[in-house]
Amino acid sequence: MKTKITEMFGIEHPIIQGGMHFVGFAELAAAVSNAGGLGLITGLTQRTPELLANEIRRCREMTNKPFGVNLTFLPTVSSPDYPGYIRAIIDGGVKAVETAGNNPQKWMPMLHEAGIKVIHKCTSVRHALKAEAIGCDAVSVDGFECGGHPGEDDVPNFILLPRAAESLKIPFVASGGMADGRSLVAALALGADGMNMGTRFIATKEAPVHENVKQAIVAASELDTRLVMRPLRNTERVLRNSATDRLLAKEVALGANLKFDDIMEEVAGVYPRIMQQGDMEAGVWSCGMVAGLIHDIPSVKELIDRIMLQAEEIIRQRLSGMANA
Ligand SMILES: Cc1cc2nc3c(=O)[nH]c(=O)nc-3n(C[C@H](O)[C@H](O)[C@H](O)COP(=O)(O)O)c2cc1C
Repeated sequence: MKTKITEMFGIEHPIIQGGMHFVGFAELAAAVSNAGGLGLITGLTQRTPELLANEIRRCREMTNKPFGVNLTFLPTVSSPDYPGYIRAIIDGGVKAVETAGNNPQKWMPMLHEAGIKVIHKCTSVRHALKAEAIGCDAVSVDGFECGGHPGEDDVPNFILLPRAAESLKIPFVASGGMADGRSLVAALALGADGMNMGTRFIATKEAPVHENVKQAIVAASELDTRLVMRPLRNTERVLRNSATDRLLAKEVALGANLKFDDIMEEVAGVYPRIMQQGDMEAGVWSCGMVAGLIHDIPSVKELIDRIMLQAEEIIRQRLSGMANA
């Protein structure tokens, strides 16, 4: 399938694997790229720019297809070494970067001078327009359904995507709630040029996370996620577990007085324990409502082939049949 996104990133299928903390290692990024999508290494999961440079090298050993790096600009006080990470990306010859979190304006000249295409992930039309204005090449429009940080506007993709299509000149992919060929066709119908998936890619053979995480996603329904940290304006969609319930109870008890310090136990440094050790109650972790559509753990190639086959079947048979009727 050819779209503006496949052309822009030099990939076969319009499917991107979003950056995911302690999931987006070289193994997953390479598997997605080898299957014809765009795999992304999650930059900040690597503690230093040197470690990111090494992860990029490892990924290149596993694939000769294009892959990218996610750079998340966090609202933290002590900022990571962003110039160092960007240097590692440029020196590593990576040609695609997914930015997320804060506005990437400051880094755009460096990235563009190195011939890197920038796709900014954002949760509102106004932020997408800002990304377009500062020169981003594409955006990933992340609806309210998404795993991770859906922002504070709560607009689901059935509204957000056509609104983005009405307003944007640059191409965009649909993100949040995407699982299969039906999602892809719907995304294209609503004006997107492809889709970005997070949660779906965790439940794959190659995702380098503990089996418990994959099983938890397969077991979950669309009713099993919760929004946490809303009082801190840092809303995150996570899978419900005992840590989620504890955190939400603190939110109720402390109301407007809630501080980040109050919830450290549930959120700080929990990802390695969950993703690598499989301790599913260690804290809160991002997961999309799309868990309700995830029933198996295929290889990445099986997943992507199946998505493309189903999408093409829907377009050729179901939809074109209707148009002729
Ligand atoms: C476990 C997990 C970790 C994530 N970590 C990040 C991250 O570090 N940076 C980022 O930009 N997005 C992160 N995301 C968001 C994904 O890149 C993607 O936008 C989102 O998962 C899309 O929604 P979906 O899960 O419904 O497919 C994360 C998502 C999950 C599920």
